[in-house]
Amino acid sequence: MEEKLVKMLIESKHLVALTGAGVSAESGIPTFRGKDGLWNKYSPEELANPQAFAKDPEKVWRWYAWRMEKVFGVEPNKAHYAFAELERMGILKCLITQNVDDLHERAGSRNVIHLHGSLRVVKCTSCENSFEVQEPPKVPPLPTCDKCGSLLRPGVVWFGEMLPPDVLERAMREVEKADVIIVAGTSAVVQPAASLPLIVKRNGGVIIEINPDETPLTAIADYSLRIKAGEMMESLVEPVKKALS
Ligand code: APR
Ligand code: ZN
Repeated sequence: MEEKLVKMLIESKHLVALTGAGVSAESGIPTFRGKDGLWNKYSPEELANPQAFAKDPEKVWRWYAWRMEKVFGVEPNKAHYAFAELERMGILKCLITQNVDDLHERAGSRNVIHLHGSLRVVKCTSCENSFEVQEPPKVPPLPTCDKCGSLLRPGVVWFGEMLPPDVLERAMREVEKADVIIVAGTSAVVQPAASLPLIVKRNGGVIIEINPDETPLTAIADYSLRIKAGEMMESLVEPVKKALS
């Protein structure tokens, strides 16, 4: 099976990847929907949408500062490095991620599309001001914009918000060109991310799913591997490297 997948990756014309929280799980970042997922302990309705932020910005900011602290303090894992290696070898053309951590970049991936934004970004609720941070803001007090004085917010896409149109457009262009897509570490239930692999399929492309659990994508994936992303991605990259050396 692996040789077949390795050959497919090497012969692919435009390989893309779609990753989710499961790829960062092996770095110690909790997923959202698994058994110990974040949404089991916290409610997205109270924390990850514009209404929650309007109602209690300090509570939402304290939760995001906690998540930023966690994410900034962990290291990329084998899965992140394997994706970066595939890009370095010119095999992976683009990595589309739902994750708001920067572990793909810290592992060396360059062509990364963050569908749901990034915890590294803080932006103003009123003006265009948006900037990268190294540390989470100390909350309280609530962080305010040094350009216009308005409240700042995490640079992530909340439930009920539209994805930035240019970001979604870029991701759609990539999957329209893809003949193979690796879908790793996502429960494939959140739209529009979950529809991206279907576009590859509709265009006659191949879906390779990597997830210890089944997902709604499993039934239509050409290959669905019940395995952790770190292990699987490493077992794919080594032979690709050998074949290309
Ligand atoms: N390797 C691969 N997959 C894993 C691993 C692992 N080591 N550990 C867990 N998984 C799988 C789980 O089986 C699950 O299917 O990762 C998936 C994580 O699913 P979610 O927690 O739903 O995360 P994700 O799919 O990224 O969520 C999508 O929902 O909450 C919003 O905006 C948030 O971007 C997020 C979006
Ligand atoms: Zn401002």
